[in-house]
Amino acid sequence: MVYITRKEHFSASHRLYNPDWSDDKNWEVYGKCNNPNGHGHNYEIEVTVAGNPPKETGMVIDLKKLSDIINKEIIDVVDHKHLNCDVDFMTGVIPTAENMAVEFWKILETKITGGRLYSIKLYESPNNFVEYRGE
Ligand code: NI
Repeated sequence: MVYITRKEHFSASHRLYNPDWSDDKNWEVYGKCNNPNGHGHNYEIEVTVAGNPPKETGMVIDLKKLSDIINKEIIDVVDHKHLNCDVDFMTGVIPTAENMAVEFWKILETKITGGRLYSIKLYESPNNFVEYRGE
């Protein structure tokens, strides 16, 4: 099995806030990330596809094609947006990196043909990132 990865970048803002909780509890759990008007991140997303390269092409998936899918389905929708209010698929979802990776998975899983989606890594900052493998 070969694992092939494409990395893309986007910038977005969000607010970590659970509407079922009091303001105090939201501050207690999310701290600065609960800032009412949000705050921004420069995100990196790494999408890994697994497969055995067919003899004919030698490619698990064409990286240009993978890039086009990620850009069309994810980057164009979230880049320079406020994740809490501008992005339909994040409606009702607390926009933590964990939840974002899961939502991105649901979208990309159906769009990637050739190989199978293996993992999504989402970097919220150089030191903080999550990985989701669809389990
Ligand atoms: Ni944040």
